[in-house]
Formats: sequence, C-alpha cells, structure tokens
Amino acid sequence: MVAPVKKICCIGAGYVGGPTCAVIALKCPQIEVTIVDLNKARIDAWNSPDYQLPIYEPGLLEVVRQARGRNLFFSTDVDAAIEAADLIFVSVNTPTKKSGVGAGYAADLAYVESATRRIADVATRSKIVVEKSTVPCRTAESMRTILEANSKPNCRFDILSNPEFLAEGTAIDDLFAPDRVLIGSLQTPEGVAACEALASVYANWVPRERILTVGLWSSELSKLAANAMLAQRISSINSLSALCENTGANVEELAHAMGRDTRIGPKFLRASVGFGGSCFQKDILNLVYISESVHLPEVAAYWRQVVEMNEYQKHRFAKTVVDTLFNTITNKTIAVLGFAFKADTGDTRESPAIALVRSFLLESAKVTIYDPKVPHEQIWLDLSETLPDWPIEKIQKSVTIAPSALEAAKKSEAIVIATEWKEFREIDWKVIYDTMKKPAFVFDGRLILDAPKLREIGFRVKQIGRPEVLA
Ligand code: UDX
Ligand code: ADP
Repeated sequence: MVAPVKKICCIGAGYVGGPTCAVIALKCPQIEVTIVDLNKARIDAWNSPDYQLPIYEPGLLEVVRQARGRNLFFSTDVDAAIEAADLIFVSVNTPTKKSGVGAGYAADLAYVESATRRIADVATRSKIVVEKSTVPCRTAESMRTILEANSKPNCRFDILSNPEFLAEGTAIDDLFAPDRVLIGSLQTPEGVAACEALASVYANWVPRERILTVGLWSSELSKLAANAMLAQRISSINSLSALCENTGANVEELAHAMGRDTRIGPKFLRASVGFGGSCFQKDILNLVYISESVHLPEVAAYWRQVVEMNEYQKHRFAKTVVDTLFNTITNKTIAVLGFAFKADTGDTRESPAIALVRSFLLESAKVTIYDPKVPHEQIWLDLSETLPDWPIEKIQKSVTIAPSALEAAKKSEAIVIATEWKEFREIDWKVIYDTMKKPAFVFDGRLILDAPKLREIGFRVKQIGRPEVLA
C-alpha cells in the first residue's frame, strides 16, 4: 500500500506541465504542487504579480489565480522540489532530433535523461516518477535503468507513464473533463500500487471509469498511436480536399456526409492548410522511427505518408496563391492572417503559417503578418529558423508584423487565412476590401469565411476543398 500523495513536483513549466499541474493543484487543495523549470524567465512569468503568464490558454489565468500561492508554486529550485515530492511528473520537452542517429525522426531524449539523472542525484527517499512528456516506447525503461543505477540505499523509484491528451486552446476544458486518463505501470505489486496512488490524485475530479490503467508499454504507445490516428484523419480529408477542388465537390459537404456515419464520426475532418503543433508530426515520425528500428518498413511507410500528405497540402496551398496571382508574387504584398498553429494559442511550433511565409519570401513577395496572440519575437525566431541562410535584416526588409488584420491587409494584393481565429470571421471585410489593391484576393486556408458574401463585396476568393470558382 502506497501512502497518499501529499507533495507533487512537476519538472518542466511548459504547455503540458504548466496547465496540467495547475489544474491538479486547483482540484486537489490538499496536495502541494510545485512546478519547476530551468528557464528563469518562464518561471518569473508564471510568478508575475500581474499574471502575465508565459503561455496563452483560455481559462488558465483563472486556474492560476485561484491556486497560486495556496498550494501551487513555481520555482527554479529543481532540487528542492524533487527532494520534497512524493510524486514527480517529468514534463520536459522532447523535440525531434536535429543531428546524429535518427535525426529528423527520433525524439531527442536529452532533456528527459537530464531530468531523470537529476532526480536520481537528489532524491534521498522513495518516489513515484511519472513520465508525462510524449516519448517513444520504452523510455520509461531507460528512466528506470538510470534511476536504479544511480539511486541511494532505501530509495526506490516506481515509474509510471501518464501521457497527456490535452489539446492546446482547449487545455483547461480537456483537463477538467478528460475523455480518459491513461496510466501505465509495471504489473508488479509495487507498480500497481504506484498506479493506484496516481489514480487517486485524478479521482479527485475525474470519474473512476475514465481512469484507464494499462501496462507501461501500452500506455507509451497509445499516446503516439492516438496522435497518429488523429493526424491521419486530417491528412485523409486534406487529400480529399485536393480531389474536391479538381472535381467540383465541396469538402465540407463531404466531411459532413461522412461524419454522419457513427463509425466515422464528425471530429477532426476539418480540411485545412495542414496540421501543425508540437505533437502530430513529431509523434508520427517517432512511430516511423520505431517501426523502422524493428524492421517493419511497410508500417513505417504507411505512417510517413501522413506527414508527406501534410507537406503536400502546405505546398499545394502556397502554389495556388502564386498561380492565382498571375504566376508571380514578386514584390507583391501578401497579408498572412494568423501565425499560431491553431486558434486560441500563441504557440507556433510546426505552424503551417511558417511554411507559407517561407514559400512567399522565396518567391520574393513582401509579407505582412498579423496574429492576435503570437509574440513578435517568436515570429522573427521562427522565420530565422526556417530561412537559415537569410540574415534577419533581409527577413525584416520583406516582412512586416502588423498590429491588426486591417493594418496587415492595407495595400496588399492578397490575404491568406492561416489560422482559424474567430476574429477573422468577424472583421469588417468591406473596410478591408477598400484598403487593398485590386483585384483583391482572399485565400481561405481554414474554411472560415463566408465566400459568397466576400464575393459580393468584390473579393476573388479561393477556399481549400472548394471548386475553382474565382469570381
Ligand atoms: C494534439 C492532440 O489533439 C492532443 O490530444 C495531444 O495531447 C497533443 O496533440 P494539439 O496539437 O494541441 O493537440 O491540437 P489539435 O487540436 O489536435 O490540432 C492539431 C493541428 O491539427 C492544428 O494545426 C489544427 O489546426 C489541425 N486540425 C485539427 C485540422 O487541420 N483539422 C481538424 O479537423 C483538426
Ligand atoms: P511541452 O509542450 O512538452 O510542455 P515546452 O517546451 O513548452 O514543452 O516545455 C518544456 C519545459 O521543460 C521547458 O520550459 C524547459 O525549460 C523545461 N526543461 C527541460 N529540461 C529541464 C530540466 N532538466 N529541468 C527542468 N526543466 C527542464
């Protein structure tokens, strides 16, 4: 029997660790939760007196307001929090490897390893260590090996896998009412007891029947598989959007008709300029890497195609813009509305907007960008990364970051909707039209605009997955 969890430490104060552990603190006032990070600026932001939190997430502010200082703390003192905790979440980043074996595919586990080594170095009593970062299968085993090889006498570590399924933009709702909480453990008496200790934490607000307990490896693979299946639906509908554009069908009607089949269901069938975010591509590439490692090339090829279709969709959309603007965008101004990878987040990781702006710049266009939440520095950073041969001065000569959609659109030849921000539906398109060069084009990469209405105003409109009407 494991004692109830009284103190939790979360290593990593990012998009996963921050909201997840803030909600745990809110829902479990009897548990003290300390979220730690090596990044001082990030921790300072979490602690800022005026709540200028480092990430934007609807509802997060209220959660932090209620729990911070009560039983929720943010700190850079990683060691102290590890030592005090009964249970430690490891929520550090696991980006795709940039060099070495598996570069471009495998997850870089350096951060997980360093956090694990820190736990082993610091802990003087037994702990439950929970792997929360998305990591390839059998990482828990590596964590266990590191912990066991470096632990002190009378210090045992039980490893659990507890992947997070929250989606950015709806993280707080997802955490308040998750479809399921998944906990993987070794099927030993100690493993099962540790699993029960964590399940009891969630049981403070999640119905027991939604807390699934499985083996460690199933839990790890489930996260990769769930993301791969979701992304596969998007690539499937996006492949059909190309077919629609060339045959006269309407992809929304298609999605609606398909989605009414209860076996298919309506979710994740929104055609778009492509999926982004820190998880989908990374997790699929991990699946590809694992499949190749165990000599299953057909399985690897199957999943790789989901990512390739996504690349194709971004490329296809950018090409449509160039083709439509009379085959050249040199020195033309394209206004890109939205830079985040989806609405209601300021996160730009793998955002399709980055690929679009890159294509436009390589075609010598001028680009104006407006996003309601993405910090300007982040946009410059992303563009520098995607165009490593371009000095920042060169990028800044061709790109302007605008304070509003209206400012971005002024004197532009075309508007490209890259993120489905609600405010883009609600802007006064007549006013925008009047400020633009004519003919004024709109390319709707998110299917959010009322095309007939825009056409009435005078715009020439192209939407993903809609037949080629350009009037
Ligand atoms: C995803 C998973 O949904 C979540 O369970 C997991 O924990 C992390 O990865 P996230 O990446 O935050 O979450 O957002 P999600 O809503 O899944 O969107 C991912 C991308 O797919 C976005 O770029 C979004 O715009 C795009 N998308 C989503 C579509 O293009 N069409 C859709 O129908 C749905
Ligand atoms: P995610 O979306 O998975 O939450 P983020 O990059 O937003 O990823 O957050 C991960 C956080 O983990 C970063 O703020 C990073 O500074 C932090 N981190 C990475 N390694 C360590 C470590 N060894 N100790 C403490 N914090 C770490």
